[in-house]
Amino acid sequence: MDKKGSWGIVGMGVMGASLSRNFASHGFKLSLYNRYVKGKEEKVALKLVRKFNLFDESLAFESLEDFVNSISTPRKLILMLPAGQVIDEIIHKLKFLLEKGDILIDGGNSHFNDTEKRILFLKENEIQFLGMGVSGGEKGALEGPSLMIGGDRRAYETVKKDLNKIAGRDSNGNPCCSFLGSGGAGHYIKMVHNGIEYAEMQLLAEVFELLMTFFKLDFKLVQKELESWQNSSSDSYLLRITSTILTFYDSKGSNFISKILDHASNKRTGAWATINGAAIGSPNSLMTAALHARYISSMKSKRIEFSKTSNFTKKESSISLKQLKKVYDLCRWINHHQGFDMINTACKEYNWKIDLATVAQIWSEGCIIKSKLMETLSKSFCSSSSILKMKRFQNSMNKSQKDWNSVINYAGNNLIPIPCISTSWNYFLAMTQPLSNANLIQAQRDFFGAHGFILINQKENSLNHGPWNK
Ligand code: 6PG
Repeated sequence: MDKKGSWGIVGMGVMGASLSRNFASHGFKLSLYNRYVKGKEEKVALKLVRKFNLFDESLAFESLEDFVNSISTPRKLILMLPAGQVIDEIIHKLKFLLEKGDILIDGGNSHFNDTEKRILFLKENEIQFLGMGVSGGEKGALEGPSLMIGGDRRAYETVKKDLNKIAGRDSNGNPCCSFLGSGGAGHYIKMVHNGIEYAEMQLLAEVFELLMTFFKLDFKLVQKELESWQNSSSDSYLLRITSTILTFYDSKGSNFISKILDHASNKRTGAWATINGAAIGSPNSLMTAALHARYISSMKSKRIEFSKTSNFTKKESSISLKQLKKVYDLCRWINHHQGFDMINTACKEYNWKIDLATVAQIWSEGCIIKSKLMETLSKSFCSSSSILKMKRFQNSMNKSQKDWNSVINYAGNNLIPIPCISTSWNYFLAMTQPLSNANLIQAQRDFFGAHGFILINQKENSLNHGPWNK
């Protein structure tokens, strides 16, 4: 009997171990590798194989060469490692262990530019490389993640049947797995996913703080309110875990999150998304605001220091829960719009053809930003290229002006920072303003730098200068 593994998986961390269990539960014989680090990582793959019966047919290794030789050819390997140098190091070793026609997939949160370089690096040895965004956290990797793949299309055609088996399933039973384009397209889409994710998480944090003020710090009432939103168009994985998180109390009866330091970390994917939006000229103010909120949260000592210098006081203010929920829902539409619009802009910038309905479909299950809204978008993008053009959004927005004013006023009077809610409002105002203040920017640029400007109704695009120095 062929003792060879049909798939090789590198890196038995949280995601790698879960993905391996997912593969094995679908009947794949696996070769599992984890490096040896004395005192820290010893026999990691072997311990995993021994822990679960579903690995009875699988093989465990600490020798990379033995691991590679245990995989049937053409070999199919997945790297489940932290983004960065670690991945380059193992690729350098694998380049000389793998053979022509083998397929190497990076399932980590790698930067799409790094993926493009790695494709070229391995091409010299005719090793096919795919960059695969894997979303869904530990549970998603185990039960069915969303898989966003880019790189060599031929390699994808070879592996797609297997990947479809382990991927999450949308409400129609279709796999949440798709080939999105050449080069780093898969990791690019995962990066945008994480940008949307950061803003979704920040919106929930802002709503949580507003609700805590509304319910006078009663965690139980806040939790019940958020739980009730699950039975509506607001429903999402992140809403559900937030509501669940608030059900945990410690032995003294304090809500568990009261014990957690208010310093939000990050592993760079949200920063990459923020940077890329600026680089390609695609306004992504929500993911940027969410990232900056995390940065400000990390300045705890400064926040304490500066809190002593502010004489701001809270003012009486009212709001209805209906208004808050409506504004939350609309902020989410705007967050998703900025993410999908960024993908449209990236397609022009990087010469990809990425179908938004396909992206929404593979994000409708399996991943962290799965939601009822995503399911709606997977259908709506079939007939509309932009969320701002969707009647459902426009109709809801056009009945919401008072709600926005109440929420923004309530937050301000209660000294609650709402970077994502307020930037959603400002983005919509700016995107629906036929005449803006940018003419003054042009005049200022021309006044100090003679950069020139175009006059209204001017035919050709030649630049004019103002009478500033006459
Ligand atoms: C996912 C998640 C995951 C990411 C976490 C943590 O799609 O499963 O996006 O890939 O690692 O979101 O990211 P931060 O540490 O940057 O918040």
